[in-house]
Amino acid sequence: MDNFTFYNPTKLIFGKGQLDQLKAEIPHYGKKVLLVYGGGSIKRTGLYEKVTSLLQEMEAKVFELPGVEPNPRISTARKGVEICKQEGIEFLLAVGGGSVIDCTKLIAAGAKYDGDPWDLVIKKAFAKEALPFGTVLTLAATGSEMNSGSVITNWETNEKYGWGSPVTFPKFSILDPVHTFSVPKDQTIYGIVDMMSHVLEHYFHLEENTDFQDRMCESLLITVMETAPKLLQDLENYEYRATILYAGTMALNGILNMGYRGDWATHNLEHAVSAVYDIPHGGGLAILFPHWMEYNLHVKPERFKQLAERVFAVDSKGKTAEQAGLEGIRKLREFWTSIGAPSRLADYHIDDSKLEVMADRAMANGEFGNFTKLNREDVLAIYRASM
Ligand code: NZQ
Ligand code: ZN
Repeated sequence: MDNFTFYNPTKLIFGKGQLDQLKAEIPHYGKKVLLVYGGGSIKRTGLYEKVTSLLQEMEAKVFELPGVEPNPRISTARKGVEICKQEGIEFLLAVGGGSVIDCTKLIAAGAKYDGDPWDLVIKKAFAKEALPFGTVLTLAATGSEMNSGSVITNWETNEKYGWGSPVTFPKFSILDPVHTFSVPKDQTIYGIVDMMSHVLEHYFHLEENTDFQDRMCESLLITVMETAPKLLQDLENYEYRATILYAGTMALNGILNMGYRGDWATHNLEHAVSAVYDIPHGGGLAILFPHWMEYNLHVKPERFKQLAERVFAVDSKGKTAEQAGLEGIRKLREFWTSIGAPSRLADYHIDDSKLEVMADRAMANGEFGNFTKLNREDVLAIYRASM
C-alpha cells in the first residue's frame, strides 16, 4: 500500500425528504443564489417547484442557468461565469445529474478566475478559489456529488477533458432516492455501467497489499450487479434506487482507492469518443471497457483472475490465470448486455471514419494509463476492436 492523504469535505445528506435541509445549509453561504439545471427533467418531475419555493422561504435572490447539456459544454459554463460576475452571486445550487454538477464546478471556479474558464479545464491555470456550491443529485452515476472532478466538453474543437481542484468539492450534496425515480431506463443503465467502471478503473493497479480495498471494490460490484436487474424491472422501488444511489457516490468519492492509483485509461478513451460523437458516457464505457481488459489481460493476469473468481463466480480450477480472467471479462460483457447496455461502437453508428480524430483526442496529453501505458497504436487497436 502506498502513502496517502484522504480529504473529502462534502457533507452528504441522504434519504427521503432531505430536500428541506437546503434551508439549513444555504444560509451559511449567502443569499444571492445561482440555480443551475439541465434540459427540463426537474421541471417535469416537480423538483424545480420544490427547490424554488424553499429558496423563496429563505428569501434568497435567485438567478437561473437552465439548459446544461448532457456532456456539459464550455459555452454554457461561460454563460454561468458571466452571471456570477455580473450579479455578485454568492452560492451556486446544482440540481441534476453529473453534467449539471460538473458545469457548476467550472462556473464556481471560473467566477473567481480572471481569464477564460477553459484555461482551468486544459490546465493552463489551476483553480485556487471557487464560489461555494451545493448539489441536489437526480441521477446515480458519476460520483460528482462527492468529488472535486468535473468533465467539460468544447464542442467547437471536439475536446472533452476532466479537471478538478481541492476547491471544487460541493459543500453539501442532497441525495434523495425519490429524486431518481424518474430517471429513464436507458440513463439508469448508463449510470450503473459508469459506477461499475469507476470501480474497475480503481481495481486495475499495480500496488501490492490492497486486500481490504479490493474487497470493498468487489463488494460494490457484486451489490450493484445484484440490484441492477431488480431495479430495471421496478424503476420506482425506493430500496433499489437507494442502493444504487449510495453505490454511485461511494464508487468515486475517494473511499475505495486509498493507498493506490487506479488505471483510468478507459475513461480517457471514452471521453475522446464522446468528444467527437456526443454519446452517453456510460454507453461508451460499456463498449470500451471489456476491450481494454482483453487488450491488457497480459499485464497482470492474476488481477483479472481474482476479479473473475470473486465477482463473476468463475471456477478457475484447471485454468490458467489468463483463461479465468478472460471468462470474467466475458461475464462482465454479458452482464452489461443483459441489462441493455451497448456492446459495439456501431450501436451508436460510429464507424472508422473518425478513428484518427478520436485517437488524436485520446493522445492529447501523450501516453496514458497507470496499470499500463497506452500509446497511439494501442488506442487504435482498442477502438478498432470496439467497432
Ligand atoms: O438535462 P435534464 O433534463 O436534467 O436530463 C438529464 C439528461 O438528459 C437526465 N436526467 C437526470 N436526472 C433525471 C433525468 N431524467 C429524468 N429524471 C431524472 N431524475 O439524464 C440525462 C443525462 O444526465 P447527465 O447529467 O448527463 O448524466 P450523468 O450523471 O451520467 O453525467 C454524465 C457526465 O458526467 C461526466 C461524463 O463524462 C458526462 O459528461 N463524468 C463526470 C465525472 C465526475 N465529475 O466525477 C466522472 C465520470 O466518470 C464522468 O466522466
Ligand atoms: Zn465515469
